[in-house]
Amino acid sequence: MINVPKGTKDVLPCDSYKWQFVEKTAREVASLFGASEIRTPTFEHTEVFLRGVGETTDIVNKEMYTFLDKGGRSITLKPEGTAGVARAFVENGMNSQVLPTKLFYITQCFRYERPQAGRLREFHQFGIEFLGATDANIDAETIMLAKTFLDKVGIKNITLYLNSIGCKECRKKYQQALKDYLSDNIDKMCPLCKERLEKNPLRVLDCKNQDCKEITKDAPKILDYICDDCNSHFEKVQNLLTIAGVEFKVDPNIVRGLDYYNRTVFEFVSENIGAQGTVCGGGRYDGLIADLGGSDVAGIGFAVGIERILMLLENTGVKIENPNKVEYYIAPMGEKESQKAFEIVCKLRQKGITADFDHMNRSIKAQFKYADKIGAKKVIVIGSDELNNNCVKVKDMQSGEEQMVSLDSF
Ligand code: HAM
Repeated sequence: MINVPKGTKDVLPCDSYKWQFVEKTAREVASLFGASEIRTPTFEHTEVFLRGVGETTDIVNKEMYTFLDKGGRSITLKPEGTAGVARAFVENGMNSQVLPTKLFYITQCFRYERPQAGRLREFHQFGIEFLGATDANIDAETIMLAKTFLDKVGIKNITLYLNSIGCKECRKKYQQALKDYLSDNIDKMCPLCKERLEKNPLRVLDCKNQDCKEITKDAPKILDYICDDCNSHFEKVQNLLTIAGVEFKVDPNIVRGLDYYNRTVFEFVSENIGAQGTVCGGGRYDGLIADLGGSDVAGIGFAVGIERILMLLENTGVKIENPNKVEYYIAPMGEKESQKAFEIVCKLRQKGITADFDHMNRSIKAQFKYADKIGAKKVIVIGSDELNNNCVKVKDMQSGEEQMVSLDSF
């Protein structure tokens, strides 16, 4: 037997309707906020992620599926959705259209991480990217969209953590202060953070290692370093969220693992799915479009991990109704009746009514069992007596009620 590669999963029919529900909700909520779908390729030139996600990130350094194609080009399977969307925005001249451009996507992503519950090597994201607006009201709207989606799929007890990591200028000052502080504690830091200290000290702030957590508790806080403009932007975001009734906690340690962010960053975190509790992450990325060769266009967005959403729904006992139930199952009692069953099924399907019938020559008892298994709402029994009288028996599977119905009614 050949197994699926480590960190990947099959989605079987017993679960696929749950995916469909989450994806349908994502589409409905995105459309409610005026976003249209964008689909970008599964793979991009590696350069897109080097420039987009950033060369100092864990994603680019350790987690990308990168290979040379037969033409010798370096290709990478997308580890996230934003960089590809930004590349498409620039390449297709979308900034010449009316701004803001409001986009959403549902896509698979690939990261070579150590698999565990809620962490896969192939996973799926529902993402939002709003491009072209700098006002803090679009930050609030982006977060509102994420919250509306989480509410609509049925997620409760989730905490929104909010922070501002300032602009390039304020971050420079902060990074120096942080570096100075961390350098004094370097001996106690984990090996990874020792490396991060030089290249990307902000990342030390969200290290999960207990020693690093202890050290960062007393580290300088970014919010003490942000400039007046960044500060008033952040205050406006908080004010609008308060007006909208969205609860949040300001957490100066939320820095996000991708290099493109500036100003507003946020995460929705749940306590109900173990270590990988971040269900949704996002923020503002005003320099990304320019970094990818476009003009100076602002951006903000987020992505939700669909696997984590489904895990959370499962763990909190939220039931998703399977909508794919068969309306009628036709149970013929012999060869002649089987032909009639075929005719009825054809007619029902032509009318757009879901219907199925016996393909296995099962006994009538076994057919009822099967109808029950596939969740048929009604079973139509056709025996020779029924055929002679030009009628069939229709049994409601829930109430058990039976009714004789003329064959002409189908
Ligand atoms: P991210 O935080 O790297 O952000 O990923 C977003 C979400 O994808 C996470 O919160 C998590 O639910 C899910 N996720 C990430 N890695 C895995 C994994 N290995 N297995 C399962 N689920 C995972 C981004 O990707 C940004 N592009 C979000 C964004 C969009 N920022 C602005 N626009």
